[in-house]
Amino acid sequence: MLNLNLSQKEFKLFKELIYNEIGISLGDHKVQLVKSRLAKRIRKLGLGSFKEYYELIHNDKTGQEIINLTSVITTNVTSFFRETGQWTFLEKAIPKMLENRPDKKLRIWSAACSSGEEPYSIGIFLHNILPDIDKYDIKILATDISKNILKTAINGVYHEEKLEKVDKKTINKYFTVHSKDPEVYYQINNKIKNMVMFRIFNLVYDNFDIIKNKLDIIFCRNVMIYFDDETKFNLVNNLGNKLKNDGFLLVGHSENILKYSSKLKNAAPSVYKVKGG
Ligand SMILES: C[S@@+](CC[C@H](N)C(=O)[O-])C[C@H]1O[C@@H](n2cnc3c(N)ncnc32)[C@H](O)[C@@H]1O
Repeated sequence: MLNLNLSQKEFKLFKELIYNEIGISLGDHKVQLVKSRLAKRIRKLGLGSFKEYYELIHNDKTGQEIINLTSVITTNVTSFFRETGQWTFLEKAIPKMLENRPDKKLRIWSAACSSGEEPYSIGIFLHNILPDIDKYDIKILATDISKNILKTAINGVYHEEKLEKVDKKTINKYFTVHSKDPEVYYQINNKIKNMVMFRIFNLVYDNFDIIKNKLDIIFCRNVMIYFDDETKFNLVNNLGNKLKNDGFLLVGHSENILKYSSKLKNAAPSVYKVKGG
């Protein structure tokens, strides 16, 4: 097998490229992770060194290889109904919020949606807690930096293992069997799929002005772990500015964001709201 060597200089070049293009900050301790993940891609492309791969990205005018690099570097780990406590919180908070929505509108953003489990969980959850859901105008925007992972999300087909923690009743109600030969895959139903609009959006470099109206709930979970303090500060403030006064911002349980914003306060573990809201 090809033995690839990543020099300090090459690591630094990739580190800068990944920061400048994707916004992800890689500490020097990530050298082994970068090496093993990029090596797989280099072998797949039939290249002979990290230098050749760097040049290929540099000369690629289509931008496709940056998309592939993004998929290689980021972790897309996600699951249906992740962070149980947040759903328990929302079960009470959403009906209460809707009492203050005479226009019946509910706007939600899943801001690093990975392969779709998060926005589809939101859709299923709303159907389960709102018996009169048809009375409401609900839209879920789901974005991610990775074009490849968004394809999986839009497809909405999941191996049965991904649904292991979802109860049978929910599976029967919101999924249909997509294929069974030999392993079982489920397809999310159109009723849920049609609630979600998928788009590419880089939380570090794209312009938040494309989000025209303020949102009721923003899920930005398990993505800030990749960012340095300055990037987190900008992101938390951008998200805070897009949140309605009585809205909620949800992050991953290991992501404490209070130190990045004077505008937000805790509403529940890993749930934030605007001060005075
Ligand atoms: C670990 S997954 C989290 C998925 C989901 N939010 C959850 O908590 O289960 C992180 C996702 O963040 C995306 N991501 C990484 N950097 C990003 C950036 N700069 N802008 C937008 N998405 C990004 C990755 O592509 C990946 O799908």
